[in-house]
Amino acid sequence: MTRTTPLTIADLTATRSVHSPAPGGEWWRDAVIYQVYPRSFADGNGDGIGDLPGVTARLDHLKQLGVDAVWLSPFYRSPQKDAGYDVADYRDIDPLFGTLADFDEMLAGAHERGLKVIVDLVPNHSSDQHVWFQEALAAAPGSAARERYMFRDGRGPAGDEPPNNWQSIFGGPAWTRLAPREDDGELGPQWYLHLFDSTQPDLNWENPEVRAEFEDVLRFWLDRGVDGFRVDVAHGMVKADGLPDWDGKAAMVEGTVADDGSTGAGNSGPMFDQEGVHDIYRAWHQVLAEYDGDRALVAEAWVEPLSRLARYVRSDEMHQAFNFSFLTTPWDAATMRTVVDVSLQTMESVGAPTTWVLSNHDVVRHASRFGLQEIGGRQLNGIGADDPQPDAALGLRRARAATLLMLALPGSAYVYQGEELGLPDHTALPDDVRQDPSFFRTGGAEPGRDGCRVPLPWVGGAPGNGFGPSEKTWLPQPDAYADLAADRQYGVAGSTYELYRTALELRRAEKLGTSTLAWVDALSADADVVAFQVAGVTVVANLGTTPLALPADAQVLVASGELTDGALPGDTTVWLRA
Ligand code: NOJ
Ligand code: CA
Repeated sequence: MTRTTPLTIADLTATRSVHSPAPGGEWWRDAVIYQVYPRSFADGNGDGIGDLPGVTARLDHLKQLGVDAVWLSPFYRSPQKDAGYDVADYRDIDPLFGTLADFDEMLAGAHERGLKVIVDLVPNHSSDQHVWFQEALAAAPGSAARERYMFRDGRGPAGDEPPNNWQSIFGGPAWTRLAPREDDGELGPQWYLHLFDSTQPDLNWENPEVRAEFEDVLRFWLDRGVDGFRVDVAHGMVKADGLPDWDGKAAMVEGTVADDGSTGAGNSGPMFDQEGVHDIYRAWHQVLAEYDGDRALVAEAWVEPLSRLARYVRSDEMHQAFNFSFLTTPWDAATMRTVVDVSLQTMESVGAPTTWVLSNHDVVRHASRFGLQEIGGRQLNGIGADDPQPDAALGLRRARAATLLMLALPGSAYVYQGEELGLPDHTALPDDVRQDPSFFRTGGAEPGRDGCRVPLPWVGGAPGNGFGPSEKTWLPQPDAYADLAADRQYGVAGSTYELYRTALELRRAEKLGTSTLAWVDALSADADVVAFQVAGVTVVANLGTTPLALPADAQVLVASGELTDGALPGDTTVWLRA
């Protein structure tokens, strides 16, 4: 049902059910947090790979944009088999990205500008080059060194079948067998578990030594002054007793949203969302609480429904959890309203802020995703040259509308580097430049996530579009990046960059992040409209195609696209003062 009678100001101000954010003045309750993916943000030395000096040199971009904090994906010592999510030394910087001194300089530069800094912690697995795993390989079965990881004997009389049937999230089996040793038992060489790539062995979180080590790693970075941690695979560290077989398919991203706001039925297997993970976060909460400045833990947990996710942010556990239900919401107003409503309600029930996110380094950017006919399934994590290609104009239009909707919502919002430029994915990368292990482990059946990780364009038309001081970029940029480069958008009315900047400025001035949300009554059953009030701002998003006549006397604060004759066109969001 779409309205036919024109809206009045009275329509826009009558509201029904309301959501009030949980109280508390901590910075993370309403922060807008910008994700830097270091290898693709800015290159300081011309080798074609982004680095920490590159980040430092571009901090003013973030300050001007108006975000509150930065989260950096891993920059630790790593063989880069999974772009740094395979950590060989949790207390050092990979030479690719710089040195600890470069880190300190970046941190100080961010703090000088009033930006908080969150670093990425990868506790589910290490790299196979980590000294612990190397020790485990050299040690005998049953040794203390092997107890730090998930080693098991194989099944079958010769132990040559994997210990269970689990599949790696990147494709193929989740177990790899070691090379034979003289002191192998009757069942021959052991196997080790890796939920991801075979170079990412899972740590054994039942082992107190592993727990102590990670608390120490937390302190190492807290002492250096970081404001928090984004915790990788926060739902995966503890596995069900006995590692029982499971016929499901574990995934990072699920693409369907049910009425209750839940997304699909995956990730309920014995490797995920076990009760035991919560003890770990209670202990970490205590570690952070010893420090000043409201340091925060953010869960990357692909669990559903939202009520399960809320358990990660109970008052003595983590502080925030990524809202992937929101990220996977299709372009449909009723579903969007439900997901927003359930998200707010569920997080309120545990006193945590809701978070909002539309893009990150694991999913197709929302400017490309919303340009696809169908959102969901495999297309969420990568589009290949042979796949149906997104409609770029439609994608960008919807992406801008989705962002403007998101930035008005109470709670904390995440912005992935480059989305403020309206960047699409590279959706036609040649196979020979791909690096994501999921491409290789699925034999190319999944294109993988490289398309959303392409180096940023800073100076349109310059070599590498100004990614660094040389023409090199570790992945090729699509042609569209020249016109979307930052310098082509600064100060340009109507550009995506200026849209983000205006919205972030208003969000801050109006305190939207800590205000109550109320649904606009007159529009709450409209099939194509999402409309709500937050503080002094009325937000109307038209997800359909029929223009919606706005009250003539409503003042437009910002719009994601041009209004036509006072009407809100399809795929457009507006913030009004009604
Ligand atoms: C989630 C990270 O975001 C992703 O990039 C990584 O591949 C996996 N965890 C494994 O660490
Ligand atoms: Ca570099």
